[in-house]
Amino acid sequence: MDGDGARGSALATTAPGLAWEYAPAPESRDVVSIAPEYGLFIDGEFGPAADGGTFATINPATEEPLARVAQAGPADVGRAVAAARRAYETTWRPMPGAERAKYLYRIARVLQERAREFAVLESLDNGKPIKESRDTDIPLAAAHFFYYAGWADKLEHAGFGPGPRPLGVAGQIIPWNFPLLMAAWKLAPALAAGNTCVLKPAETTPLTALLLAEVCQQAGLPPGVVNVLTGAGGTGAALAGHQGVDKIAFTGSTEVGKQIAATVAGTGKKVTLELGGKAANIIFDDAPVEAAVEGIVNGIFFNQGHVCCAGSRLLVQESAAQEVTDRLRRRLGTLRLGDPLDKNTDIGAINSRAQLDKITELSAAGQAEGADRWSPPCELPGRGFWFAPTIFTGVAQSHRIAREEIFGPVLSVLTFRTPDEAVAKANNTPYGLSAGVWTEKGSRILWLASKLRAGVVWANTYNRFDPASPFGGYTESGYGREGGRHGLAAYLDA
Ligand code: NAI
Ligand code: MG
Repeated sequence: MDGDGARGSALATTAPGLAWEYAPAPESRDVVSIAPEYGLFIDGEFGPAADGGTFATINPATEEPLARVAQAGPADVGRAVAAARRAYETTWRPMPGAERAKYLYRIARVLQERAREFAVLESLDNGKPIKESRDTDIPLAAAHFFYYAGWADKLEHAGFGPGPRPLGVAGQIIPWNFPLLMAAWKLAPALAAGNTCVLKPAETTPLTALLLAEVCQQAGLPPGVVNVLTGAGGTGAALAGHQGVDKIAFTGSTEVGKQIAATVAGTGKKVTLELGGKAANIIFDDAPVEAAVEGIVNGIFFNQGHVCCAGSRLLVQESAAQEVTDRLRRRLGTLRLGDPLDKNTDIGAINSRAQLDKITELSAAGQAEGADRWSPPCELPGRGFWFAPTIFTGVAQSHRIAREEIFGPVLSVLTFRTPDEAVAKANNTPYGLSAGVWTEKGSRILWLASKLRAGVVWANTYNRFDPASPFGGYTESGYGREGGRHGLAAYLDA
């Protein structure tokens, strides 16, 4: 990999001197059939909302409508919670853990069998590149079900004392950036621990959660154990406020997380919140530069930067700053932006017009506040929601782009001289979800990991996920852990 653009690029086609270009390698859209309309999944069956309300979900890469989806209102929330309660009392809680595990294993295996279908549907509804949905989202979702299936009959040995009990009905509200994966993160540990679930997917990406509901049917999961309510913020608020729900798990914006915390305060409901982030990716001058550049790219351009743990603040040691940013610019020239279903695409569509507006506004603020903005030559498709990969240098800690979560393919570059300064700058944020450290020195990695206020610290890598490893934040990034043994604690009364 020489990083000088010789690999060819959709972005770089306008640059002179490039000899060749990748041919399109489109994944087939026909592997998934999308119904014109979808109902709510309550008590094992699909049906319309009580008031007949629906809304459209679109393909953000083309703005083409994909399907209409039922909009759940308070009456539907009531029905779903009642179904989940019934299933909890009569079927799921009394069932031996080893039996519950069989259903989770079945779901995991069906996810693997239907992986291609899920990947295409995820990319169509969300806009993410097919190579990411195919290689990351779907395999990790299946891995979560496999992992937690293994715990279902071992809860006594999970370290929470003898006889840990499930909480009851879990209301789970998830975002649009990893739709199926977030559903798996929520459902798998809850079900393994013996809870039943009412899941509310995000309004821009409901389709893979509905396909997962179909997989629950296919796996023979008893009715009511998993219910899926599609709808927008109002549906989520009704679920969070429903008195029949014993636990709320939320992933999304800090603003909505705070509202949910206020709603459930004093009700006795348990809550876990996985919110935003503004992670520092810290590069020391002894780091292997090429690997670090790949880590920076992965950290902020993976999934168009729609990642809560994205390495959105690059902190680079001053002595290495020029080399790192030069190489980074060259590497960005090789990224291909475009059709999410093309297997060569690196950067897909922004998930919604609202998110595109937010990224556009914050980037304009970065320029207005005096940072230097740069993007590689890049032709954006005429329709759909797109944003060129963007780097800001000369960023000050006071700039909005250094403080606020952009949730887009936009990197803010800051510099530091000493390790202490790196720590001070990295921790200068109300968030605390993740961080990255790049250095050859093991002792420095350990020292930094103990100083950084972040739930996850990656060393000489970034965005590594495994179902066995816990994930979660500090302060405005929320509380509670998902994944691993720790993820069970959120669903056990222990
Ligand atoms: P959001 O927090 O509004 O949406 C997340 C989920 O919460 C969706 O299912 C939504 O329908 C639901 N929701 C919205 N309002 C609710 C309410 N009052 N009560 C209960 N549920 C509610 O996030 P949004 O507006 O899509 O994105 C805004 C910003 O939030 C992004 O730009 C990004 O900075 C951040 N975000 C962070 C995520 C993360 O993974 N930590 C995921 C999504 C967004
Ligand atoms: Mg959509």
